[in-house]
Amino acid sequence: MRAVTISGDGPTAKLTTSQVEPDEPGEGEILVDVASSGVNRADLLQRAGLYPPPPGAPAWPGLEISGTVARLGAGVSDRRVGDEVVALLDGGGYAEQVVVRASQTLPRPDGVDLVDAAALPEAVCTAWTNLVDTARLQADETLLVLGGSGGVGSMAVQLGHALGARVVATAGGPERAARCRELGADVVVDHRTEDVVDAVRAATDGRGADVVLDVLGGGGLGDNVRALAPGGRLVVIGLQQGRTGELDLARLMAKRALVTGTLLRSRSPQEKAAIVEAVGEHVWPLVAAGRVRPVVHARLPFDEADRALGMLESGEAFGKVLLLP
Ligand SMILES: NC(=O)c1ccc[n+]([C@@H]2O[C@H](COP(=O)([O-])OP(=O)(O)OC[C@H]3O[C@@H](n4cnc5c(N)ncnc54)[C@H](OP(=O)(O)O)[C@@H]3O)[C@@H](O)[C@H]2O)c1
Repeated sequence: MRAVTISGDGPTAKLTTSQVEPDEPGEGEILVDVASSGVNRADLLQRAGLYPPPPGAPAWPGLEISGTVARLGAGVSDRRVGDEVVALLDGGGYAEQVVVRASQTLPRPDGVDLVDAAALPEAVCTAWTNLVDTARLQADETLLVLGGSGGVGSMAVQLGHALGARVVATAGGPERAARCRELGADVVVDHRTEDVVDAVRAATDGRGADVVLDVLGGGGLGDNVRALAPGGRLVVIGLQQGRTGELDLARLMAKRALVTGTLLRSRSPQEKAAIVEAVGEHVWPLVAAGRVRPVVHARLPFDEADRALGMLESGEAFGKVLLLP
């Protein structure tokens, strides 16, 4: 089968379409004919050799796909050949076929095109588990989504809104801000021209945000704690601005705030299955009702994989970029 593999090393590594051997589904696994594969920032790191796939995963990138079930491994009873599914992967999604644990798949949600459905698994699972499991976001709380225009952020804005929270999102520029508003953001802060902490305070009568979802990390840590309300929760899920920052512990204590971080890819199969199951139960009905939808910036063929990753790297993408075999 064809897969998008990494050739070369380090910052000059490229993605090329090549022939690889497909896997066979083992116990509890299914083989899926891929319709579309979602592109993630982790793939940029993997291409540069900085984020090796976990043991057992294929060498090529790809954390999520949509497609059609082609074959069942032993012991799989809740999927049928021909079912249209989406899957959260440990890796290997940039290929014509992929083997995945059935427990990390969900049926294609009603009302969503099969190709576009690949925009959902990673962003929805990340947004759901961080907002609900980790941050315990409540209806009528204020959620600040840093990077509301991104793949994860555009989903977090929609989910936060659907969960009844008041959503403040950041976006780079007026067009991106307008699109965040369309997704359900009550207030959008243009981080290029406005001070985010001041804007969050102004939007909350000085109180701050109950939950901050942070895709940036690094030196923003201090400001993000300043943006928190008393009892607030800051969840760091991305390090686009670096892995270290300075934390004012006195401010943290005074606010009785929590700062934490999570990673999805390294979680156990059981934890991933639990997140996927919760998403199927709680988010899929919202998708079927049109209240949460995939946000697709571009659909590109495998041969343009480097261009697809470039759309994330340059900041051009709003929402998700998809690769099609
Ligand atoms: N921990 C996990 O389990 C997990 C899972 C999935 C993803 N992630 C990570 O989460 C991060 C976001 O992923 P993604 O797929 O959403 O990436 P993405 O689609 O490339 O989005 C990145 C976002 O960052 C925003 N941004 C860039 N510079 C900014 C700045 N200086 N201030 C404010 N916002 C800025 C961009 O918005 P504007 O250009 O509009 O400002 C854009 O919305 C990545 O680092 C990814 O690796 C983590």
